[in-house]
Amino acid sequence: MASELITGIAELTTQAGDDSGSPANRVTGAALVVDDGRIAWIGDASAVPDADARTDVGGRAVLPGWVDTHTHLVFAGDRSAEFGARMAGERYSAGGIATTVAATREASEQQLVDNALRLRREALLQGTTFLETKTGYGLDLDTELRSARAAARVADVVTYLGAHTVPPGADRRNYLDLVTGAMLEAVGPYVSFIDVFCEEGAFTVDESREVLLAGRSAGLGLRVHGNQLGRSGGVALAVELGAASVDHCNHLDDSDLDALASSGTVATLLPACDLSTREPLAPARRLLDAGASIAIATNCNPGSSYTTSMSYCVATAVLQMRLGIAEAVWAATRGAALAIGVDGGTDAVGALRIGGAADFQVLNAPSVSHLAYRPGVPLTAAVWKGGTRVRASDGAIPRSVSGES
Ligand code: NIG
Repeated sequence: MASELITGIAELTTQAGDDSGSPANRVTGAALVVDDGRIAWIGDASAVPDADARTDVGGRAVLPGWVDTHTHLVFAGDRSAEFGARMAGERYSAGGIATTVAATREASEQQLVDNALRLRREALLQGTTFLETKTGYGLDLDTELRSARAAARVADVVTYLGAHTVPPGADRRNYLDLVTGAMLEAVGPYVSFIDVFCEEGAFTVDESREVLLAGRSAGLGLRVHGNQLGRSGGVALAVELGAASVDHCNHLDDSDLDALASSGTVATLLPACDLSTREPLAPARRLLDAGASIAIATNCNPGSSYTTSMSYCVATAVLQMRLGIAEAVWAATRGAALAIGVDGGTDAVGALRIGGAADFQVLNAPSVSHLAYRPGVPLTAAVWKGGTRVRASDGAIPRSVSGES
């Protein structure tokens, strides 16, 4: 693969520091070289090395691709009527999951893959270069297995969520035995995390613990859907078991904040879901001030959050959850990578580091601050994934001046 020099960068977000506040994370006057899918060089734009091709991004901001660590892309069907009822005043509940389960069971594996790929592509074109997705709309052995296989064809990381709810008509105890037994064994080759919806209408704390411990015994990492609709105990359980992440976190008291702050469990916040379900926004500011680690994700799914836009989530986190722009961008890139346990090596997911994957985006703006300053505007102008450009939205960024095929 030919090397490519990227110049004309008004502001380069590298996430080279250790946390969101590091001054090393954002630099000006820099250029970078991509070679063989990786970042080969980052340095001063006045002293660039030779490369086979050169792309001038014309005074725009460059930052790592988004890392979306919470999506449910493997599904069939539509829940727009439920959304409409919610906007008319009904409260979101776990019950709507059954609608998607029924449609998903009817779909072929190829239909599930095609729909998930459609959303994966939509996300990529908006800057998401690394993505997690889950099973959880099958809830029988056959459909969970098809879902896991479909997810593995679409996502970078796959989570097993057989414990999303007890499906209609199933005996609760028998279903838990299935989730922790034959179903877990069947999906094992395709997944690296296990998750459970610990909430009223889904699973109790004790049931959730049973599910997570079975997953741990099978060698899976742990994630929890917790404290979305009330203080479900999901956050405390995630911390107790050392889960990588507890997701949602809308309803937290001081003990939850303290528990998260003194743990390695990341609180993954889902701003688009909070708005779409009209739940209180997760207390992002309080979490950070308490010393907890956070990530931001879309939670793309047909029920509670039907968006693939990480930029929208970042803007919401800044404008409504009171994060600083650097904090929000960190939580959607490097902080998110840490939440999914892809913390570096040469891959350096969510960061731009020499030797790391050349996964980055160019904004139609000179600074990442425009992500919140110009909310709702589709600012991602171009995306490189593994060193290859996958989007040039409107021709505003010229093709390389030499050598690019
Ligand atoms: O993360 N909260 C549980 N699961 C999904 C939504 C499920 C649905 O309503 O389809 C979520 O919001």
